[in-house]
Amino acid sequence: MAKIFSSKLLIPFFTLFTISCSVLARPPRVLPPFRVGFYQQSCPPAEYIVHKYVSKFVRLNPGLAAGLIRLHFHDCFVRGCDASVLLDGPNSEKESIPNKGSLRGLEVIDAAKAELELRCPGVVSCADILTFAARDSAWKVGNIYYDVPSGRRDGNVSLILEPLLNLPPPFFNASALRDNFARKGLSLDEMVTLSGAHSIGISHCSSFLTRLYPTVDPTLDPKYAAFLKRICPPPVNGTTVVNPTVNLDSFTPNALDNKYYVGLKVNKGLLTSDQTLFNSPLTKKIVLNNAQYGYAWATKFAAAMVKMGKIEVLTGSQGEIRKNCHAVN
Ligand code: HEM
Ligand SMILES: *[C@@H]1O[C@H](CO)[C@@H](O)[C@H](O)[C@H]1NC(C)=O
Ligand SMILES: *[C@@H]1O[C@H](CO)[C@@H](O)[C@H](O)[C@H]1NC(C)=O
Ligand SMILES: *[C@@H]1O[C@H](CO)[C@@H](O)[C@H](O)[C@H]1NC(C)=O
Repeated sequence: MAKIFSSKLLIPFFTLFTISCSVLARPPRVLPPFRVGFYQQSCPPAEYIVHKYVSKFVRLNPGLAAGLIRLHFHDCFVRGCDASVLLDGPNSEKESIPNKGSLRGLEVIDAAKAELELRCPGVVSCADILTFAARDSAWKVGNIYYDVPSGRRDGNVSLILEPLLNLPPPFFNASALRDNFARKGLSLDEMVTLSGAHSIGISHCSSFLTRLYPTVDPTLDPKYAAFLKRICPPPVNGTTVVNPTVNLDSFTPNALDNKYYVGLKVNKGLLTSDQTLFNSPLTKKIVLNNAQYGYAWATKFAAAMVKMGKIEVLTGSQGEIRKNCHAVN
């Protein structure tokens, strides 16, 4: 009996006792407005519902996974992840050169939002739906899973000029890409890692036509260039007559994997902004590493997507929860 009260046991016992008491006595904790599982109380099925629609749509058309991941990027780089890219209007972001005619996956967001408004009206933001949809797309086509914080609120401004001022154009070189991503708080490694999203999806000829005509870009594999020229006709009088699409990754176009980097090693990067990552000494080593270590790349990709999803988010009482992702309330 006496042994139990030896000082050796007594001190830790009292320490534990006081710690647990202070935890119990603390007032209810205020949860942060931006956190993993934000909708756990307010709309428990939120993430499941988005996942359900992504699965359904992507099964029918794997290209929509690429569309959703790109939509999230185009949202976050312009006014932060506030769903400004989803707003309709003659002078909205949708009408800008980087977006017009090339956005995909909007119908997935609409389907998820419609069910969420029935189940939990006015609760789940369009910005979070888009973030979840991009995350679930990476899972569907890349087996890449990550948790994302939520609690983003929707903005009410979307300006046609802003995508061109914030999104990198396809003709940028490695240092210009680095500077562009740095302005959004993303590192050189994160820039190269996120470019791996070009392991899925398509590009219109207009995004790389200057690499084919009037002369073929010497950093483009000649056979690949010949193939591209067969698909993309030369401009007539300086204007593109037809504008077909080509897979961004010629090896595994529907799998989000590191084969994109293997393509860069053999001069099969489709955009100037892709091939420059291998040709510039600034980023070459990162490309070689990503090409060799697929699992390490996937881990970095997940972390960089989470980070991109945190750019300039509106939280708490900022912004609003849109009823319809196409318009402000
Ligand atoms: C590094 C700078 C980047 C540039 C210059 C760039 C540029 C482009 C261009 C020009 C296209 C083709 C658009 C078209 O012609 O239809 C495209 C497609 C795409 N981009 Fe990027 N991008 C960049 C980074 C990113 C990032 C960071 C992501 C996402 C994490 C991303 C995801 C995608 C996806 C998935 C597609 C295919 C879309 C589809 O198939 O619908 N890109 N990008
Ligand atoms: C990259 O592009 C910038 C401007 O866009 C230019 O000033 C710079 O010289 C280019 N760097 C290389 C290595 O070509
Ligand atoms: C190209 O432009 C020239 C002069 O502007 C014109 O004569 C010619 O018909 C045009 N060609 C086509 C195919 O539009
Ligand atoms: C936009 O949202 C802000 C709150 O973030 C609000 O003060 C403002 O009145 C809204 N503007 C429009 C046009 O809805």
